[in-house]
Amino acid sequence: MRPQPDFIHEFIPGSSSRTLLLLHGTGGNERNLIPLGGELDPSAALLSPRGKVLENGMPRFFRRVAEGVFDLEDLENRTNELADFVAAAAQHYGFASDKVIAVGYSNGANIAASLLLLRPETLSAAILFRAMVPLIPETQPNLSSVRVWIGSGAHDPIVPASEPKRLAELLRNAGGDVAIHYFEAGHELTSQDLEAAGDWLTLLR
Ligand code: MLT
Repeated sequence: MRPQPDFIHEFIPGSSSRTLLLLHGTGGNERNLIPLGGELDPSAALLSPRGKVLENGMPRFFRRVAEGVFDLEDLENRTNELADFVAAAAQHYGFASDKVIAVGYSNGANIAASLLLLRPETLSAAILFRAMVPLIPETQPNLSSVRVWIGSGAHDPIVPASEPKRLAELLRNAGGDVAIHYFEAGHELTSQDLEAAGDWLTLLR
């Protein structure tokens, strides 16, 4: 029997072999990023889970102690749970497990970065909007075949400008090919983010 993926999620089949793993921010859900995914790559399949942690009723992908201060044990467990979900979903829906590209925003970008650091086999590439360093792994992953695009807001009140730089360095030290962009923006996404990320994704084809 094919395993049942165990997150509430949306799956929309695509016409290419790529799947975008859409990971929403705090307070989002499985439907929020579907239009963005379709805009970034109209031919990709879309897999969009809802984070299982609730913070004052708002879904997230892992617990935090305060803004930007993470419950690291929960983060590690949730990262493994999400990686297992993606693998089960690939079998269940029949998409290629080696062509999964994460597209994460804020809390979703942070768990995507955690997937890269703890379960690197899950993703072939990642687009991280407003990400920070989620954790420092005990052993360095091998990211030599992974490509990452990071989009940051130069005036982000939640993510200090130094964080995406530290994240880029961490991923590069593990062999990742990392592009980092700063936009004249805060924590919210802008049309410049989407345009630049879409262009980058097109070149990955
Ligand atoms: C997080 O908790 O992942 C970050 O603080 C971003 C957020 O969700 O606001």
